[in-house]
Amino acid sequence: MSGILEGKRILITGVLMESSIAFHAAKLAQEQGAEIILTAFPRPSLTERIAKKLPKPVTVLSLDVSSEEDLAGIADQVREHLPTLDGIVHSIGFAPQDALGGNFLDTPWESVATAMHVSAFSLKSLTMALMPLMQDGGSVVGLTFDAQLAWPQYDWMGPAKAALEATNRYMARYLGERDIRCNLISAGPLGSMAAKSIPGFGDLADTWNHRSPLKWDLNDPEPAGRGIVALLSDWFPKTTGEIIHVDGGLHAIGA
Ligand SMILES: NC(=O)c1ccc[n+]([C@@H]2O[C@H](COP(=O)([O-])OP(=O)(O)OC[C@H]3O[C@@H](n4cnc5c(N)ncnc54)[C@H](O)[C@@H]3O)[C@@H](O)[C@H]2O)c1
Repeated sequence: MSGILEGKRILITGVLMESSIAFHAAKLAQEQGAEIILTAFPRPSLTERIAKKLPKPVTVLSLDVSSEEDLAGIADQVREHLPTLDGIVHSIGFAPQDALGGNFLDTPWESVATAMHVSAFSLKSLTMALMPLMQDGGSVVGLTFDAQLAWPQYDWMGPAKAALEATNRYMARYLGERDIRCNLISAGPLGSMAAKSIPGFGDLADTWNHRSPLKWDLNDPEPAGRGIVALLSDWFPKTTGEIIHVDGGLHAIGA
């Protein structure tokens, strides 16, 4: 039986550890028949080590999405391995420590700017850097954490995710005429490196033990990976500007 990504070529950012959501997207994408290429930050060597656990060998390119130079060179580097792309996975988030963990009212603009640049603006800059390879349409998928609500400890990642969610809608608006769909998976809390860097993240995540309609497992990024693969496939052909919750249903529950 052929997979739902058979014949598709996908670039996946954000594989850092086995706990990375992007690792599970990469594994499932290969299992579903896609040819993939990974980008890595800060060091390809870390990602290359983790990528050995994927079902098939994969090329890893270095890419800092806040570097204009890296972005300017990425399409040519990808072309050495894959002639075109049908999909992009943006699985990138970062905020400096003083923008997280209860410091919201005292965070300086420089730290807020870094969070916005790496976590939100990069959805646009990464996609446009790869546009020469996406001439026949495709699917861009990013990851958010529900930005409609103010969470404890999440602080400036909240406004950064709100910016990402709005950026996704504008990308849908501008790229629809090129048959490029742009969507986000809004994931529940997962115990990745990014999450562990947020002081008090455990308390925030504990909310899911009490309020999530479906039982939520903090250590299982596979459901988020499945959502990503579904959006990369041809099974959401007329969906764009959308945010699909893979959060156990908690977003729908008042109290
Ligand atoms: N873990 C969660 O609870 C959770 C929930 C919802 C959404 N998300 C989002 O999922 C995405 C992936 O996070 P994760 O939980 O898998 O954590 P992770 O730490 O495994 O992944 C974050 C990735 O961001 C990358 N990154 C940071 N700065 C970068 C830069 N300048 N250039 C390129 N890449 C850079 C890191 O290399 C890393 O691979 C992020 O957007 C995150 O906000 C996470």
